[in-house]
Amino acid sequence: MELVSSMTDYTSAYRQSVANPEEFWGEIAGDFVWKKKWTKVLEWDFHKPEVKWFIGAKLNITENCIDRHLAGQADQVAILWEPSDPKEGAKKITYRQLHQQVCKVGNMLKAHGIKKGDRVCIYMPMVPELAFAVLGCARIGAVHSVVFAGFSSGSLADRINDAGCKMILTADGAFRADKKIELKKIVDEALEKCPAVEKVIVLERTGSQPVMKSGRDCWWHDEIKKANDRCDAEEMDAEDLLFILYTSGSTGKPKGMVHTCGGFMVHVNYTFRTVFQYQPGQIFWCTADIGWVTGHSYILYGPLSAGATTVIFEGTPSWPDMGRFWQTIERHHVNIFYTAPAAIRSLQQASLSFVEKYDLSSLRILGSVGEPINEEAWHWYHKNIGKGKCPIVDTWWQTETGGIMISPIANVTELKPAYASFPLPGVQPAVMDEKGNEISGNGIEGRLAIKFPWPSIARTIYGNHQRFKETYFSTFPGMYFTGDGCRRDEEGYYRITGRVDDIIIVSGHNLGTAEIESAIDEHSSVCESAVVGFPHDIKGQGVYAFVICYNKPQDEEKLRREIRDTVSKIIGPIAKPDKIQFVSGLPKTRSGKIMRRILRKVAEGDTANLGDTTTLLDPAVVEEIKRGALE
Ligand code: WTA
Repeated sequence: MELVSSMTDYTSAYRQSVANPEEFWGEIAGDFVWKKKWTKVLEWDFHKPEVKWFIGAKLNITENCIDRHLAGQADQVAILWEPSDPKEGAKKITYRQLHQQVCKVGNMLKAHGIKKGDRVCIYMPMVPELAFAVLGCARIGAVHSVVFAGFSSGSLADRINDAGCKMILTADGAFRADKKIELKKIVDEALEKCPAVEKVIVLERTGSQPVMKSGRDCWWHDEIKKANDRCDAEEMDAEDLLFILYTSGSTGKPKGMVHTCGGFMVHVNYTFRTVFQYQPGQIFWCTADIGWVTGHSYILYGPLSAGATTVIFEGTPSWPDMGRFWQTIERHHVNIFYTAPAAIRSLQQASLSFVEKYDLSSLRILGSVGEPINEEAWHWYHKNIGKGKCPIVDTWWQTETGGIMISPIANVTELKPAYASFPLPGVQPAVMDEKGNEISGNGIEGRLAIKFPWPSIARTIYGNHQRFKETYFSTFPGMYFTGDGCRRDEEGYYRITGRVDDIIIVSGHNLGTAEIESAIDEHSSVCESAVVGFPHDIKGQGVYAFVICYNKPQDEEKLRREIRDTVSKIIGPIAKPDKIQFVSGLPKTRSGKIMRRILRKVAEGDTANLGDTTTLLDPAVVEEIKRGALE
C-alpha cells in the first residue's frame, strides 16, 4: 500500500481507517510474507477484553525481517554496531550474515531443548548477539522475555519466575562507560530463586571469567560453533505469543505485557515507515536499549522488517565525552535519529562545542520518545542537532501499545513543539473527563483513552488476564485507558501532559511508586514509606521518598545512602530515590489511604497550596512535612 506522504493522504488514510478499519489494515498487511492468509482481519471486545488480528493467518516474523530481504539486499548492512569503547571499532552485519546468525541461535536453542512456546529470558548488553538472540527465539517460535541489563538480581528473578523461563541467555559482563558490570554474577544470584531454569548460555564480552555451574551453564561460543546456519522458520499463528516484556504497574509487581506475532509486525512496520518516512538505504539510529519496548519495536522489528540499516549502540551518551552521540552520527552517516528527552536535556547542559565538532549533515529526521519533551529541549534539539532543517517527530506510545500511536509524520505534519500532534491512521483516541464521559470538541483537557483496537495492542498481562482488564479496561468501560493525561488544542493537536496514575517516568523509565516503596521498606530501619515524583531538570521526573523509621535516625545521611543502596539492589540503580525526607507520619485519610496529592505538592515545592486537608486523620503531620521539605 502507498504510504502517507502529504496531509491530504493523511486525512484520507485516517478517514478510511476509521470508516473501515478491517479494509485499511488488511491492505497494509498485504505487503508481508504470510505462510497462510487470514480469514478475517479483526475480532474484538474491549469489555472482555479480547482482541485478535488476522485470524487464522500463519507467519514467521523473522522471514519478514530477514529472509525476504535476501533476494535483493543480502549484502546490505542490517545491523551497524557501535561498541561502548569507540576504539574497539564498529561492526557491520549484512542481511545475509544476520540470517546465518539468527539460524544458528535458533538451532542452538533447539539443541538445548527449547521448543515453540517456551519462554527464554534474555539479559544481555547491547551487542549484536542480543539481536541474534531475540530473533533466534522468534525464528523457532520461542517467546522472548528481554530484561534490561540494568535491573538487579531480585527484579530479574521475579521476571524469570513470572514468565516461567526455562533458559537464560546472558553475558559474562557488560561495559558501562569505563566500568564493567558482572552480569553473570547477577544472573547467578537471581537463579538461586529460580528453580525452573535449566540452562544458562553465556556470551563472552568483558572477559570477567565468571564461575560456570556445570550441567547448567555453557559458553555461547562453544554452543554456537556446533549450530548449523540453516533453520526453518517455525510456522506461527498470527495470535501466537511473540514476546513478553515487563513494565511497572501501580502495585509492586511488574506486568508482563504480551505481544503476538501478526499484529505487532504489521503495526511496527507501518508506523516505522510512516512516521519516519523511511527511504530505502537510510541509516536509522534509535538510542534506546533493547531491554525496553522502544528497542524491540524500533531497533529490531520495525527497521528490520522494512529492510533498513539499524544502529545498535552499546555505549552511553556521555562517554568518553558528551559528544559521543554526535560523533557516532558523523561516523555512520546516520539519517534518522530517535532518542529520549532525558538524553537531550543532559546533552544540552554540555558545551555546544561537543556538537559543533561533528558533521551532522547526514541527518534528515529527528525523533523523541518516552516522556513529554519540554519546549526548551525541543528547540535546542531542533536548532543545534537538526540545524533547523530536520522535523522532530514526538512519538507518543507505550509498552502496552507496542508501536507508535500519536505522532507527527515527518515532513508531512506541521510541527508544534512539545505536541505529539495527531493520531496515526488506525488510532482512535478519546479524551475523557473524571466522570468517564468523552469530551468532544477542541481546546479541551482530560484523560487519554483509545476507543478502537489497533494491531499491536498488548493482548494480556502474562498469567493475569484479570489484572489486564482491571488496569486498562475498567476505568472507562469499553475503552483502553492509557494512564496518561492530555490536552487537545484548538487545532486538534494532542499534547501528552504526563501520567495520571502512580507511575513516574525517570529518564524515560517507567517506575511504579509501590515498587519503590516496597524496596525502601526492605531496609531494616524503615517502618513505612511513600514515594512520589517531582519535576527534575534532566531526568524529567525524580523520585522523592517520604520515610518513617522505627527510631529517629542518628545519622540521616548514612541512612539515606543505605536506603538508596537497598533500592538499587532490589530494583536497580534507575529507581534510587533522589530525595529522602524522614518524617514521623504520613498524611492519611480516615480510611488509611495515603494522600499522595499532598506529598506531590510538597515534593514540587508548592507547600502554599496543599488544598483541602480537613479529611486527614492527623492534619498536624502535614505541618511537620512542610517544615522538613527538602530543597
Ligand atoms: C510516556 C515508551 C509524552 C507516557 C514508548 C506513556 C510520552 C509512557 C511519550 C510509556 C511522548 C511516551 N510524549 N509522553 N512522546 N512517549 N510517553 O511503556 O506517559 O516505557 O504512558 O513506553 O511514557 O512508557 P513505556
